[in-house]
Amino acid sequence: MEGSDLPLTSRSELIEFEGISMVHFFTDNWENIQNFQARPDDILITTYPKAGTTWVSYILDLLYFGNAAPERQTSQPIYIRVPFLEATLPDIPSGVELADKLPTTPRLIKTHLPVQLVPKSFWEQNCRVIYVARNAKDNAVSFFHFDRMNLTAPDPQDWNTYLQRFKDGKTVFGPWYDHVCGYWEKKQTYSNIHYMFFEDMVEDTGREVERLCSFLGLSTPTEERERITKGVHFDTMKLNKMTNYSTVPAMDFKVSPFMRKGKVGDWKNHFTVAQNEQFDEHYKQKMKNTTLQFRTEL
Ligand code: A3P
Repeated sequence: MEGSDLPLTSRSELIEFEGISMVHFFTDNWENIQNFQARPDDILITTYPKAGTTWVSYILDLLYFGNAAPERQTSQPIYIRVPFLEATLPDIPSGVELADKLPTTPRLIKTHLPVQLVPKSFWEQNCRVIYVARNAKDNAVSFFHFDRMNLTAPDPQDWNTYLQRFKDGKTVFGPWYDHVCGYWEKKQTYSNIHYMFFEDMVEDTGREVERLCSFLGLSTPTEERERITKGVHFDTMKLNKMTNYSTVPAMDFKVSPFMRKGKVGDWKNHFTVAQNEQFDEHYKQKMKNTTLQFRTEL
């Protein structure tokens, strides 16, 4: 097993790595990550952390393998079915090892790497890439609660400190702003990217499943799509041990569950009026050169 099997005694430190903030769990295996050999039919699911990665991973898993392998649905957690490429986390084989051993075609692979750090073989093989983006305010709130409960993450401290770190790009995988814009720009030169929004998924999951099928060239029958849409509802995924991460020892569900709220606009319960005004001002500056638009409420 390549994965780190050291006991978790303390939280990790944020390090500067290849121009972004990282923790060692995502850089320890760097040479193997960068040399990863993608295949033309691999599908890369890529997101800034907490943008809906698990949701889209599960939709894709059901679209491709929901009927083919029922035991896969009941015995393998989603993080094993859809390996997290750059991860070397405690108690789990490394993402590269899991991906290399995937018996499925296509292989569904997850990454949080910003576009400039994605292993080049994915681009060379013209792999299909699914990017999910979530508005900055809800993304920051979700990441804050995740870092509170995820003992492999740096200590988030209090909300105000965390929000400042988020604005400064000092969160794991670097600045949200560069991440969402980087993939948005990549679409100009690389057409095999399907760029999706968490807010659209909440608004109409069925429509987004249909769009995914169309991008992937799948002719999944309507009833099947409807069944999948029901199966990936927040409440269903929250109860499902294979999708709710309750099997991961490094996550403390007493602090906050992985499937927390799944809403658009929860930021309103966290941002003070002053924080919101300052955030909007900063956001305008950071996003002034992009056509990318987000919805912060529905
Ligand atoms: P919240 O913390 O706002 O609840 P990721 O999988 O990228 O880590 O993202 C996790 C976020 O997506 C969490 O957001 C989680 O609740 C939300 N999520 C996961 N599955 C969902 C679903 N089926 N419907 C709505 N939100 C979902």
